[in-house]
Amino acid sequence: MRACLRDRRLGRNFRQVGSEAEFAAAEPLDPRRQAFWDTERWSLLWLEPPEHTRIRKLVAAAFTPRSVEALREPSHELAREHLPGGDFDLLRDYAQPYSIAVICRLLGVPTDRARDLLDWSHAMVKMYELDTSDAQAEAATRAAAEFREYVLALAEERRREPQDDLVTRLVEAQVDGRHLSEPEIVSTIIVLLNAGHEATVNTLGNGVLALLRHRRQWERLLAGEVEPAAAVEESIRWDPPLQLFERWVLEDGVELAGRPVPRGAKVALLFGAANRDPRVFDDPDGFDVGRGNAAEHIGFGGGIHVCIGAPLARIELEAALRALVERAPGLALAGEPRRNRAFVIWGLESLEVTV
Ligand code: HEM
Repeated sequence: MRACLRDRRLGRNFRQVGSEAEFAAAEPLDPRRQAFWDTERWSLLWLEPPEHTRIRKLVAAAFTPRSVEALREPSHELAREHLPGGDFDLLRDYAQPYSIAVICRLLGVPTDRARDLLDWSHAMVKMYELDTSDAQAEAATRAAAEFREYVLALAEERRREPQDDLVTRLVEAQVDGRHLSEPEIVSTIIVLLNAGHEATVNTLGNGVLALLRHRRQWERLLAGEVEPAAAVEESIRWDPPLQLFERWVLEDGVELAGRPVPRGAKVALLFGAANRDPRVFDDPDGFDVGRGNAAEHIGFGGGIHVCIGAPLARIELEAALRALVERAPGLALAGEPRRNRAFVIWGLESLEVTV
């Protein structure tokens, strides 16, 4: 898996090297969904070099380790503020509002639009699934158009009146004398929000469910025997929130695991399976928060598309789990959790708990 992620003969996109006719499995982009594809056009996730290299440098210049580190303390505060008492749905009442609040803080947008951001993000990520319905595609397209308008207005505001936030830094970032264009800013902010929010929320849902079903592991956290940060890594390894990413074979002569794979083929990379590789992890199906090498999981990907938000995700998830450990030691399941009906973005629909 790691070798595939690093292999430059495999790409997220093929349009820089060939036509749709040559890449037989490619479905032509549906023109009715143009507004959606416009917002994806400059998303890091879909770009390949040299465009990817340029945009990633600009995003990295704005999304610096220092700006992420500055969110550590606010994340702890926000986690404590958002943690409800009594019975609650861990996803709807804690993980989602908390994660949106952290992202609003990062982007520098007021939380009064948090509901819209959440709805847009939910609607848009349905496009990444394998069985998106027409109604979902239409909702995603509407959401994309609204999200775009919102981002353009926000970027314009920050251009006029700069603040200490990510949107301002993206507007101002320069590499080789070039700024991000408006469509590039729109795609970048949208991917940061959508990629970041959904994966983080589902990690928390999947991880807390695993902890509550393996009570001994939860108790190790309560006893201080294992740090929440380590439990976050094991959660991402054991039940990752993103299960599938695809790559196109861009060249002739590619062999994967000893098998020839022709140019134009599409390869599915299954992250959940790779994270249970017995060559890397002892007792790979066991959930063990004290596992020494859990952080060797592939959950954040690898190669040029490696998750740019991983340092933020780690800070955010550690703070959320720590708040639960410190403030809700009696946490227990209060009902049967419901899985969402998606595969790529893997998580729960609801996780009813009681403190
Ligand atoms: C536990 C949480 C997260 C997980 C498991 C995760 C996982 C991933 C993975 C596997 C990729 C690579 C996709 C590929 O190879 O095709 C990726 C890329 C990306 N992630 Fe994350 N992510 C998480 C959180 C975040 C956060 C918090 C942000 C931003 C605020 C973020 C932003 C991105 C972006 C922008 C990319 C595209 C990078 C590129 O293509 O150059 N992610 N993520």
